[in-house]
Amino acid sequence: MKYANNILETIGNTPLIKLNSITKEIDATVLAKVEYFNPGNSVKDRMALKMVEDAEADGRLKPGGTIVEGTSGNTGMGLALAAIVKGYKLICVSNDKQSPTKFDVLRAVGAEVVVCPTDVPADDPRSYYSTSKRIAEETPNAWYVNQYDNPSNAVAHYEQTGPEIWEQTDGKITHFVVGVGTGGTISGVSKYLKEKNPAIKVWGIDTYGSVFKKYHETGVFDEKEIYPYVTEGIGEDILPENVDFDLIDAFEKVTDKDAAIYTRMLAREEGIFAGNSCGAAIKGMLQLKAHFGPDDVVVVLLHDSGSRYVTKIYNDDWMREKGFLE
Ligand SMILES: Cc1ncc(COP(=O)(O)O)c(C=O)c1O
Repeated sequence: MKYANNILETIGNTPLIKLNSITKEIDATVLAKVEYFNPGNSVKDRMALKMVEDAEADGRLKPGGTIVEGTSGNTGMGLALAAIVKGYKLICVSNDKQSPTKFDVLRAVGAEVVVCPTDVPADDPRSYYSTSKRIAEETPNAWYVNQYDNPSNAVAHYEQTGPEIWEQTDGKITHFVVGVGTGGTISGVSKYLKEKNPAIKVWGIDTYGSVFKKYHETGVFDEKEIYPYVTEGIGEDILPENVDFDLIDAFEKVTDKDAAIYTRMLAREEGIFAGNSCGAAIKGMLQLKAHFGPDDVVVVLLHDSGSRYVTKIYNDDWMREKGFLE
């Protein structure tokens, strides 16, 4: 018999899928690493499990403990799967910009969800950064995950996602393009790929309203760059320790409207029903087309599933309200 012993054993080994239509204007071979094939429907299952197992191993997470995290949903889902199988409680703290669907999904897998306002500074006591820290301090036997600064986040991608991409492309990958939030995916994958072949170029996809691109180019953390934006999962108003700027060749910014439109195009033209940041990654990669030659192999990582955005990106009324559809 061939079976997994529990849901956690089905994490990883996601497919690499050639894009054929949306990439018409690009000479190179473009391959999508489609991470919604993970059991929690996102790449974050990988790092969630790794963070839990590392915390168990060094005693930060004890039997019967409560896991507390500030998460926009995907990390929460991965943590929820780990919590169920391993017998922990989970409290997820998030913000009101996220799709309500994401919260319903988290509650479905047993998490308690606390929702905070988005439009307050990170150091405001009402922000989801501050609230998650406070709840972790006040809850007995709690462990605060802190995916932004927890090194196990990037290590998961160094150990799994990077090697999978290298093996699936038979070492022929020349460029890696991926959205950046906590930085775990880009830093872990980039470290592995550049160790294998330092010539591989790695681009981070950023949003307008986030500090990454300017910080990478100038070393200046410019608060004037920060304003509310719509795209979910990428861009930050802080500098997470998991973003290793030395492992990133450049950042490219994509507008909220383009991210939304290209997310829909990906579903219609490729049959890949993916999340909001995936449209940003695709559009960012298209903006970079001048860098790719006919022999290049470009891998773009798609973080999550479209199912969490049915009331937003995939809803015409919402798209019109935001001015993204005529
Ligand atoms: C939908 C989505 N896209 C992109 C990202 C960014 O990934 P990372 O945090 O590894 O930089 C995240 C992470 O929160 C996400 O949930």
